Amino acid sequence: MERISTGISGLDELMGGGIPKTQLVLVTGTAGTGKTTFGVQFIHTGVKMFNENGVYLSFEEPIDSIKENVKGFGWNLDELEKSGKFAFIRYDPFHIEDVFHILESTVREIKAQRVVVDSVSAIGLHIKDKTELRRMIFTLSLILRKLGCTAVIVSEMVPGEKGISRYGVEEFVSDSVIVLYYERLQSTFSRALQVWKVRGSSHSDKLHPYKIDSNGITVYPKEEAFIKD
Ligand SMILES: Nc1ncnc2c1ncn2[C@@H]1O[C@H](COP(=O)(O)OP(=O)(O)OP(=O)(O)O)[C@@H](O)[C@H]1O
Ligand SMILES: [Mg+2]
Repeated sequence: MERISTGISGLDELMGGGIPKTQLVLVTGTAGTGKTTFGVQFIHTGVKMFNENGVYLSFEEPIDSIKENVKGFGWNLDELEKSGKFAFIRYDPFHIEDVFHILESTVREIKAQRVVVDSVSAIGLHIKDKTELRRMIFTLSLILRKLGCTAVIVSEMVPGEKGISRYGVEEFVSDSVIVLYYERLQSTFSRALQVWKVRGSSHSDKLHPYKIDSNGITVYPKEEAFIKD
């Protein structure tokens, strides 16, 4: 099985050596767990270290705000865009179906091998009908598979609610699932990551601590994390 690096230090070995190529990976977590950072790091490392072009589709945060926020990690997305190896897609909330066509043509145009969709939960802000929304998430997964890219789709987890995704379909259309936690343990909050599933591969079944600092996300594969039940 061919694999590609997540670009997240320490994570590949928890997934049995990286993401199986062309798989769809769901990254899910509550607010502020680092999902956007994960997505941008996946793309940035892909371009810089592996010469794999990337496309980032943001339904949520404005592009300029993402660009500004990741400067703290030393990632210059304007420079990547100018080099033609990276593209951001701005969506139009009034023509949400068109965004899938734009995604397809952009991926072909820049010959992207990595794609991020951040977040599928935010599509729900524009499409109120649950059945229609689930159909859209499913369609998106089919498009990503057809394009043959390795894709990260981001989903939001609601604190206190059961289930690891917003609409309960995201984990089923995905081949792999990574869950990010930010939980209180006594007086401090700690970050922990779990590899929930990787289709066709062995993976860690433990919770591991991770940090976000000036280098982005780093996971500690040899350490175990503890969060409240
Ligand atoms: N330069 C930095 N150095 C250290 N930590 C940072 C830095 N930039 C961001 N962070 C941490 O990352 C967190 C937010 O990351 P990010 O925006 O990726 O999360 P998210 O899961 O996408 O959030 P949301 O649910 O709001 O979309 C911040 O709350 C902060 O703790
Ligand atoms: Mg985010």
